[in-house]
Amino acid sequence: MTTMTQIKSSNFKYDVADLSLSIQGKAKIEWAAKRMPVLAQIASRFRKEKPLKGITVSACLHVTTETANLCTTLQEGGASVNLCASNPLSTQDDTAASLVSNFRIPVFAKRGIDTNGFYKHLNFSLDYKPNITLDDGGDLINLIHTKRLDLMKTLIASLEETTTGINRLRAMDKDGALKVPVFAVNDAYTKFLFDNRYGTGQSTVDGIIRATNVLLAGKNFVVCGYGWCGKGLASRARGLGAKVVICEVNPIRALEAVMDGFQVMKLTEASRIGDIFCTVTGNKHIVRKEHFQNMKDGAILCNSGHFDVEIDIPTLIELAKETKKNVRPNVDSYILKDGKAISLIGHGRLVNLAAAEGHPSEVMDMSFATQALSVEYAVKNQKKLRPGVHNVPAELEDWIANLKLKTFGVDIDTMTSEQKKYSQNWKEGT
Ligand code: ADE
Repeated sequence: MTTMTQIKSSNFKYDVADLSLSIQGKAKIEWAAKRMPVLAQIASRFRKEKPLKGITVSACLHVTTETANLCTTLQEGGASVNLCASNPLSTQDDTAASLVSNFRIPVFAKRGIDTNGFYKHLNFSLDYKPNITLDDGGDLINLIHTKRLDLMKTLIASLEETTTGINRLRAMDKDGALKVPVFAVNDAYTKFLFDNRYGTGQSTVDGIIRATNVLLAGKNFVVCGYGWCGKGLASRARGLGAKVVICEVNPIRALEAVMDGFQVMKLTEASRIGDIFCTVTGNKHIVRKEHFQNMKDGAILCNSGHFDVEIDIPTLIELAKETKKNVRPNVDSYILKDGKAISLIGHGRLVNLAAAEGHPSEVMDMSFATQALSVEYAVKNQKKLRPGVHNVPAELEDWIANLKLKTFGVDIDTMTSEQKKYSQNWKEGT
């Protein structure tokens, strides 16, 4: 049930599963914090400067220990922050409890919530009349443009964390439907090159292994989609000895996959030989009836794209005629007419968050440093901002990359003045 709890004699509201989990949640948030040094440095400056004083931030993100550290960083900057979940299966209930109990952040998130409750939570978050919204998948910005238009008045800007969300915002912008400035955090190098590639790569493999405990070495591992997430996943699965097959619709990406040394083929072919399938395309019904019918007994399916539409689950259910059986935590098996079993991890939702803990803190450090600095930039530059999709300023990215290198103990070269001159001189010949 989704009922908001209001602490007596105060305005503080929340809806989380179990506040008694807060001790465990706090320990995990602190564990993550130790691995997020760039964000910690921003938090320490924010504590002194309070650049977000008077600003209300509504965040719709995966409720993880890393997100908790982003929320507390913004709070250090003087913002009033509230949080709801961007996916019904990614919430860490202990983290949610700790944010409420230990940090007094209103959280509206419970793992496994139904669709109705999920949308109620989004609306509870928007009731705070945010000046800034943070989205992972565009849910808040979508609600503001469709059902909560009154909130445009107080909104300064929105930030978007994921590729799928950005694609939708760009489509809105093209149609002239986007009415607010949005920062494409996903498109910052400090985000997608690391989070999408190494974060998704490791956490997706982590989710598959935690859910199934299968050996990857020697398996035919089919990756649908060779964007940054697909590239990361393919390289990590290969690292564990899997024979990786890539399925792509984009010829440039398919060529990249070929030259990266992977087998590339149509899914019709791959579906006959695959042992494990993972979709990371951002599109729908990638794996569908014709593919289920080709699959081997024991095939394992999962998705690491933002929405749970990449595998045609309704058709799988129909083909399996009431045989769905939960065989392990996060794994359901379906028996097709010919007797073969196909298993689906995490109901086809993001496998890295449904069956594991999402990207490691070290990589979220960069993504969420990009978020925190972009919030500050939006607030400082609010008078100049126009509706539309904006890139994160390059100087913020350079600052983050330099600091991250330092935390790895890596020193890099700088150009000499002769080199600087040469690099800018178009008259220099051979
Ligand atoms: N998206 C992927 N991994 C995540 C994490 N650990 N925290 C928040 N959002 C994420």
